[in-house]
Amino acid sequence: MPESKTTLPVSDHVEAEGHLIDSHIMEQIFDTVVEFQGRFEVEHFHIGRTNSEPSRLRLRIEAPSEPMLEKMMTQLLGLGCSPVDKSDAELAPVERECCAPEDFYSTTNHRTLVRLKGAWLEVGSQRMDAMIVVKEGRAFCRRLRDLRAGDQVVVGMKGIRVIPEAKERDRLSFAFMSNGISSERQVETAVRQTAALVRHTVEQGQKVIVVAGPVVVHTGGVPFLAQLIRSGFVHALLTGNALGVHDMEAALLGTSLGIRLSDGRQQEHGHRNHMRAINAIYHAGGIRQAVESGVLTRGIMYECVRAGVPYILAGSLRDDGPLPETITDMNQAQDAYAEHLSGAGLVLCLGSMLHSIAVGNMLPSWVKIVCVDINPAVATKVSDRGTGQAVGVITDVGLFLELLARALTVPKP
Ligand SMILES: NC(=O)c1ccc[n+]([C@@H]2O[C@H](COP(=O)([O-])OP(=O)(O)OC[C@H]3O[C@@H](n4cnc5c(N)ncnc54)[C@H](O)[C@@H]3O)[C@@H](O)[C@H]2O)c1
Repeated sequence: MPESKTTLPVSDHVEAEGHLIDSHIMEQIFDTVVEFQGRFEVEHFHIGRTNSEPSRLRLRIEAPSEPMLEKMMTQLLGLGCSPVDKSDAELAPVERECCAPEDFYSTTNHRTLVRLKGAWLEVGSQRMDAMIVVKEGRAFCRRLRDLRAGDQVVVGMKGIRVIPEAKERDRLSFAFMSNGISSERQVETAVRQTAALVRHTVEQGQKVIVVAGPVVVHTGGVPFLAQLIRSGFVHALLTGNALGVHDMEAALLGTSLGIRLSDGRQQEHGHRNHMRAINAIYHAGGIRQAVESGVLTRGIMYECVRAGVPYILAGSLRDDGPLPETITDMNQAQDAYAEHLSGAGLVLCLGSMLHSIAVGNMLPSWVKIVCVDINPAVATKVSDRGTGQAVGVITDVGLFLELLARALTVPKP
């Protein structure tokens, strides 16, 4: 049946600018309108003639109802469309701590601008699922729990512009795994490109952050991560209590969760070794003290202390012990992670579903993530946040670290 030509009851105009075609944003815009039972009419489209010139699009959109138009607009904003009207962003005050006005604008992880007194202002501390607070001529993201009475929060959808990341064309782009996830056969290529990204990030004066789970220890990755830390390629380690415990159990007792690292066999009474390791660290007075007093002489935590690389041990419900320094207040742990992620250029997520996804949620879309996990679902979940930000490498993390350490560090004669 031919589509009816009658117009739908509500309409608006939106504009978008950027690499709309090759980043596949335009088709997403069209799909979104249709998904919300709407219609679009392209009123203006200018294709960028060079690889650096942006394309420009102006659409008239129609929807079956106001609520539907609003939902459609929310999605379109995230794709870089902004309403054509030139009004400022609307603000409403927070009346009670942690209580946002009903129609607060919820942020994406993309670079965002708000219009205030006719001028566009970039939003600071960009992250997803936050509110935008405007204070003393500045705009910044704030989590719900950080809202205070009197804060002015952006509401509605006017005067907001979101700039999705464009697909990169340079040699350090994620083109090597542009399909998102690389297969086992491509691991060597992925390692080579990750090594190039690490070098580039360091040369740019940005931080390389490692987010890791205890499987790094179980798969024999310790000497290689230790080597990377020693060689100055890691600027902070964000992890849980378990990596610290298993790393130090391996350093102190030669086992990881009671399994001998030398031959992969269960050590007799080895099940108590992780508790013996925690106990030894308490006896020493803490992790740093264990290194300084010569109790702890190798491993990931040892190298962090020696190299002055900050580490955060975030607690979880699964933890035994936990080790001293484990942050068991989750809000504090998130804050500590966010502090170290600020200024990051590259984040390597190594074998931890919990910590990798948590970190993915905190980062703005222009910080690169390489997520190494044996389970494609985890890599997909972490990668699923905007064009070109994250890639997954599906492989054993111990193997990946060995290859990466080899690619980045020149063996000593
Ligand atoms: N794992 C433990 O033994 C243990 C024990 C006590 C507490 N905890 C705490 O629980 C929380 C979650 O722990 P987690 O991060 O270990 O679990 P997680 O389930 O969040 O992540 C483990 C990830 O490792 C991946 N994986 C498994 N084998 C792999 C391999 N060979 N190579 C690459 N990836 C591989 C899995 O697919 C999974 O995504 C953390 O805070 C941790 O400190 C863990």
